Amino acid sequence: MPEMLEVNGLTKRFGGLLAVNQLSFTIHEGETVGFIGPNGAGKSTVVNLLTGYLKADEGTIQLEGRYITRSSPWERAHCGLARTYQIPRPFPELTALMSVITAVLCGKERIHQSFEDAAVEATQYLEFVGLFSKRNILARDLTFYELRMLELARALATTPKLLFIDEVMAGLNPGEAKRAVEMVMRAKNHFGLTIFWIEHVMAIIMDAAERVIAINYGQLIADGTPDEVINNDVVIEAYLGKGWRQYA
Ligand SMILES: Nc1ncnc2c1ncn2[C@@H]1O[C@H](COP(=O)(O)OP(=O)(O)OP(=O)(O)O)[C@@H](O)[C@H]1O
Ligand SMILES: [Mg+2]
Repeated sequence: MPEMLEVNGLTKRFGGLLAVNQLSFTIHEGETVGFIGPNGAGKSTVVNLLTGYLKADEGTIQLEGRYITRSSPWERAHCGLARTYQIPRPFPELTALMSVITAVLCGKERIHQSFEDAAVEATQYLEFVGLFSKRNILARDLTFYELRMLELARALATTPKLLFIDEVMAGLNPGEAKRAVEMVMRAKNHFGLTIFWIEHVMAIIMDAAERVIAINYGQLIADGTPDEVINNDVVIEAYLGKGWRQYA
């Protein structure tokens, strides 16, 4: 069986800055993989490369054995990749329902679906993330937490196999953050997803992830179980700091 995702030698330059440097890793089907590293390490850039928002300068990306390195974002979405953004990117002038309908219609094999069927389906995704009562509210009038949930609903509505989460907790208060994390885990179980999850809050990564990949300056510095990675000297030096446990 091919791996869910296989990344080899992925490299991205922004002018003189080497943001992602010869990065190689694998994600197995059904895993939740935490992706950590200091600010500016290149985490979001990696997700942008994997989803096709940015094009890699070097390296290859395979999804279930098929090369998608040069595929467009929509082709990758049709292959089963979806993401949420670190800073939500709603369509401000669309209602929550219309936003999710758009995602339903753009998901894989949905080109011939009727608008009415898409609306029924979209409503179910809004119910799933707890936004049913907000379905007719314009995205620009939603709270930050609601926008995060709308991002999740939109991602789920494309029926992904592999979901990239770029920080679900940032900007949320502790109660909202806990609900958001629970929602991701519920989505994973309910839809049978594989998850690649960027998060700075180590307690969440420790709880949710079966494996953790750490990068620094765009390079892999650790890949192992959460326990292995948090006890890795290079990760402690580059990211966690020696006394991090007392703050986690
Ligand atoms: N579009 C861009 N153009 C130029 N430089 C960029 C661009 N996107 C990111 N960078 C730079 O690439 C490096 C990696 O950025 P990236 O956003 O991937 O980091 P990150 O690990 O996601 O950080 P954070 O934890 O703060 O979100 C940084 O130095 C950043 O300034
Ligand atoms: Mg980032």
